[in-house]
Amino acid sequence: MKIDVLLGLQWGDEGKGKIVDVLTSNYDIIARFQGGPNAGHTLEFDGIKHVLHTIPSGIFHQDVINIIGNGVVIDPVIFENEIKAINKLDIDMSELLISKKAHLILPTHKLLDAASEQTKGKNKIGSTLKGIAPTYMDKAGRNGLRIGDISSNNFKEKYDKLKQKHIQILNFYDFDYELTYLEEEWFTSLNTIKMFDHIESEHYLHKAIKKGKKILAEGAQGTLLDIDFGSYPFVTSSNTIAAGSCTGLGIAPNKIGEVFGIFKAYCTRVGSGPFPTELFDAVGEHIGKVGNEFGATTGRPRRCGWIDLPALKYAININGVTQLMMMKGDVLSGIDKIKVCTHYNFKGETIDYLPFEASVGLSPIFKELEGWQEDLMKLEGLEDAPQSFHDYIRYLEKELETPISIISVGPDRKQTFFR
Ligand code: GDP
Ligand code: IMO
Ligand code: MG
Repeated sequence: MKIDVLLGLQWGDEGKGKIVDVLTSNYDIIARFQGGPNAGHTLEFDGIKHVLHTIPSGIFHQDVINIIGNGVVIDPVIFENEIKAINKLDIDMSELLISKKAHLILPTHKLLDAASEQTKGKNKIGSTLKGIAPTYMDKAGRNGLRIGDISSNNFKEKYDKLKQKHIQILNFYDFDYELTYLEEEWFTSLNTIKMFDHIESEHYLHKAIKKGKKILAEGAQGTLLDIDFGSYPFVTSSNTIAAGSCTGLGIAPNKIGEVFGIFKAYCTRVGSGPFPTELFDAVGEHIGKVGNEFGATTGRPRRCGWIDLPALKYAININGVTQLMMMKGDVLSGIDKIKVCTHYNFKGETIDYLPFEASVGLSPIFKELEGWQEDLMKLEGLEDAPQSFHDYIRYLEKELETPISIISVGPDRKQTFFR
């Protein structure tokens, strides 16, 4: 059996949490492969809205195993808060497993994130300040602490050693901080992490593949935030792309089956960095308002713009997407003409790819399509959708040369149609 991968094709917040939840009934195991609590994955069902940061989005289904893979970075405090919120719903979490190789976000990692952003001034990344970059830096620098270290006798010693190194950097930055409370809550929250099974998740997954179990790998962030292929330096610090599922779970490339690529019917971005199709007018404001485009992790307003085909084609190629899923078509209802970026004008030339220097001198070239007026949130079936909505889907499918297999027209599980 192969592992399917689900990931974002834009700048994150495409609706991954919702679709993982919708698809979970087809799988035995859901496994998060990278990122950390910078992610905010929203699910809605039975009138309940839920935001997950570290825990895979299959957690609300019984008899499904959820794994936090080695590629994920974990803040025990945020993890504990997620557990508390899920506990209120009386969900059985005994089958939530954590990789021993997943790295820990220390309180000082969060301080370092803040210090780094402060130093960058107006060039700041717009980080979620969850300590992501400093934690992955320590991972790459071979200094990090991992889940498997928690139970070792010299854990406190290792912690103190790393903390001292961080304090030296914070002092170098001349950064003011108060660590006592942060450390207290961090050490207390380790007790919650200890309640779960810490496993060598790569072995676990290899065995599961052999037994024919169905596995879905859940990505976080989006392709354009990938550390290698995103709009560097305005990216996150992990490989958000399909290849990240191999390193983030320990699975071989030839074990990957379907690659589900999720995109919004338009674009959003939270944080700094290039965004060629960004809207600065009333339409952009309208999309942000109707789409409730506020970060699920930080509450920051998301920047909104038209769909960007060159960027999407790039993401489809990088990930080897086999099926597309289009989210939030309902948000575009009532807009007379919908624009689609087909090319860019770059230094006087028309180009069809995202260039290295995407932040300067790049402007979008648009094609206009007919909009629709109907409220798609009320649709009972796709057959009742207006013709111009069908035309929009078909146009994108043709341009992207990949089938669009799911259409989402609202935040609830039920507002999802399979084609
Ligand atoms: P993720 O990070 O990719 O899981 O996405 P987020 O949860 O950060 O952001 C997606 C937001 O859009 C959430 O508030 C979802 O509840 C909401 N959402 C998902 N799909 C749809 C949709 O088809 N229509 C509308 N209106 N909202 C949606
Ligand atoms: P999900 O999984 C949207 C953005 C931040 C910032 C940049 C770096 O919910 O789609 P970091 O905290 O990683 O140092 O931030 O990446 N970012 C996200 N934007 N959705 C996310 O996750 C994001 N995770 C990080 O806003 O611009
Ligand atoms: Mg999100």
